[in-house]
This record gives sequence, C-alpha cells and structure tokens, in this order.
Amino acid sequence: MQIGILGATGPAGSGLAARLASVGFDVIVGSRSKYKAMEVRDRLCDHWQGRELSIDADDNPGAANADIVVIATPWDAAGATAASVSRQLEGKVVISMANALAKVGTEFQPLVPPRGSVAASVQAAVPKSLVAAAFHHVPAKELGDLGEPVESDVLICSDHPTATAATVDIVTKIPSMRALDAGQLSNAAPIEAFAAVLLQLNVKYKTRVAVQFTGLRDV
Ligand SMILES: NC(=O)c1ccc[n+]([C@@H]2O[C@H](COP(=O)([O-])OP(=O)(O)OC[C@H]3O[C@@H](n4cnc5c(N)ncnc54)[C@H](OP(=O)(O)O)[C@@H]3O)[C@@H](O)[C@H]2O)c1
Repeated sequence: MQIGILGATGPAGSGLAARLASVGFDVIVGSRSKYKAMEVRDRLCDHWQGRELSIDADDNPGAANADIVVIATPWDAAGATAASVSRQLEGKVVISMANALAKVGTEFQPLVPPRGSVAASVQAAVPKSLVAAAFHHVPAKELGDLGEPVESDVLICSDHPTATAATVDIVTKIPSMRALDAGQLSNAAPIEAFAAVLLQLNVKYKTRVAVQFTGLRDV
C-alpha cells in the first residue's frame, strides 16, 4: 500500500515516512517543492542504507495520489494543504497528525482552531474524504530512529469507521505501537490539545515523552 505524506520534509513527516517504510509501506514524501522532497528522500535512504526503504519523492499533489494520505504540515496550513489536493483525496482515508499549539516563552499553549480541532477543519476542507486523526503524541525523533522501537499508544478518532480501521491497520504494523480507537472526530480537540502537555513535560524533565494507557490488557 502506498502512503503519501504532505509536508513530509519536517521532523514529524520525515520520521513517519522512515518508520512506515521500515515496516513495508511504499511511502511518498511530499512537499511544496519536489526538490526539497527529493533531498529528504535521499537523506533518509542514505541514513538507513541496507534497510531497502521504499520511499519516493514528489510535490504535495503527487504525494496525494497515494492510497492513503497523511497531513504533516503545521496546524494552520493543514486545511489549506488538504483543500489544494481535494480532487486527489476524494474518497480516500486522510490522516491528520497536526497539533494546534503556540509557544509563549517557555510555555506550550493549546489553541482552538476553527471547528474546534485541526482534524475537523481538514475534514471540512475535504468533505468527500474520510479523515482520521492520529499520531499526535508520537515524538518525531523517535519515529525517525529506526534503530529503536517506538513504545507508544496512538489515539485514533474519525467519523468514518473505514478510516479508523485503515489507520488502526497502519499503526498495528509498527512494532511496540498500539492503536486505540478513541471514537468520533470530535475527540480530536482534546487529543490535539494534550500535545501541549507532552511538550511541557519534555521541557520540564528534559526528555521526550509518549503516551501509554493502563487498563487495556486485551487490546
Ligand atoms: N514534531 C513532532 O514531534 C510532532 C509529533 C506529532 C505530531 N506533530 C505535528 O505534525 C505536524 C508537523 O510537525 P513538524 O514539526 O514536522 O512541522 P514543521 O517542520 O514546522 O512543518 C512540516 C512541513 O510542513 C510544510 N509547511 C510549512 N509551512 C507550510 C505552509 N504554510 N503551507 C504548506 N506547507 C507548509 C513544510 O514542508 P515544505 O516546505 O517542504 O512544503 C514543512 O517542512 C505539526 O502540525 C505538529 O504539530 C509533530
């Protein structure tokens, strides 16, 4: 299966690209600039030589031709980026991983985007697509470090059961990650906002935290 990542030249998108390719997905790194995407693709493939990662590079419209598309841009660009490729995204599962946050001094503050969450604004921008929200709490550096497993739960929410199921399937392929169905897309608001808490913990304890829930023995 091909997964396109829009905005994949940043830490989050490129880390996710490497991780997804490492578990057998054909990944297309997308960017507003195809050349920038090619540079990132080359850097990832050089860095992980010997792993035979299937990573291609294209501009965002090219990456949006993939079977499933992830939006990995800053929050205030996510809706417009999705809308710019709405034709390619029609009928497809689109995964939004953006968190709306502001750094004020040393503090991370959650913002309330239009429609309450970034994922909801992406869904409004591409109403013919099946938007799921996922990967908000997975630290980019750990995602991109293929030498170590990523120990993290991934909260997934969507108004489309097909999108939830497809995202669960993707996450489940990644060793040590656990996919959790967190309900409807309305829950994207608290999921995205909680990223501010994780970043604050990173600053306070000089680390990079991820999320793991207790009490879910059989999942
Ligand atoms: N960093 C993390 O640990 C982490 C973890 C989970 C989720 N997230 C979320 O994932 C998203 C990406 O994070 P990041 O740290 O990788 O962000 P980033 O580096 O700030 O941006 C990612 C890419 O988005 C594209 N972009 C920037 N401004 C844009 C605009 N105005 N319009 C269209 N594209 C634009 C750029 O790619 P091109 O210039 O190549 O187009 C950029 O390289 C964020 O929303 C973040 O909240 C981050």
